[in-house]
Amino acid sequence: MSGAPGSGDTDSGDRDLSEFDSSEFDRAYWEQHWQGSQGEASAPNPHLVREVGGLTPGTALDAGCGEGGEARWLAGRGWHVTAVDISREALARAAALGGVDDGDGDAGDAGGRVHWVEADLTTWAPDRQYDLVTTHYAHPTMPQLGFYDRVAAWVAPGGSLLVVGHLHREGGHGHGTTSTDDPPEHATVTLADITERLDPGEWDVQTASEHPRSAAHGSTLHDVVVRARRRD
Ligand SMILES: C[S@@+](CC[C@H](N)C(=O)[O-])C[C@H]1O[C@@H](n2cnc3c(N)ncnc32)[C@H](O)[C@@H]1O
Repeated sequence: MSGAPGSGDTDSGDRDLSEFDSSEFDRAYWEQHWQGSQGEASAPNPHLVREVGGLTPGTALDAGCGEGGEARWLAGRGWHVTAVDISREALARAAALGGVDDGDGDAGDAGGRVHWVEADLTTWAPDRQYDLVTTHYAHPTMPQLGFYDRVAAWVAPGGSLLVVGHLHREGGHGHGTTSTDDPPEHATVTLADITERLDPGEWDVQTASEHPRSAAHGSTLHDVVVRARRRD
């Protein structure tokens, strides 16, 4: 992306998000989130499956991996995955779920292909770049687009970035039919918010799409999916 990685850039497209306080989404918030949830997320995100299924496995970073459904799926296809999350509870669940998802319903030996890391992605940075950096619905305390800039910087030349996020729609809050399903406003983005930050001299955008998704309580949420290849 064109923004300075890790700069905490507050650019949010045309929207003024200055009124939004994202500081509530800190470590304590996410620990409480995971301690209060039922462990619903072992299946991989379908956008990941669709977008990455055709890529040649290499090294991958999953930023905000939660219970690790995506990391296990990647590992099951031969990727060597660094899976990072701020929540100890989420990572404990991921570790308990154990093996890689090899697609036949049999959780086999992870074979060391997932490296679980408990860290705050707003301050932690890897000492290497990856063939794939992916993030799904992660919203940290820093501005959402600055977060995407930050993780994009960790994509190696020739590698891919996959962002799966919450779509911002005019009218602000109210993506679902119940307020409990709504993502926080400052965590929502448009496709243009993301693609405009991907310098065409550096990135080849291969997917930029919006998708409805069924959520709890019968509501419908909307995802943005952007996959881009970093030019060699
Ligand atoms: C909505 S959950 C999504 C989890 C998983 N990616 C999925 O799609 O099921 C967002 C995840 O981001 C993690 N997260 C939030 N802020 C973070 C930060 N600063 N550093 C690392 N992980 C963070 C949370 O702990 C949580 O697991």
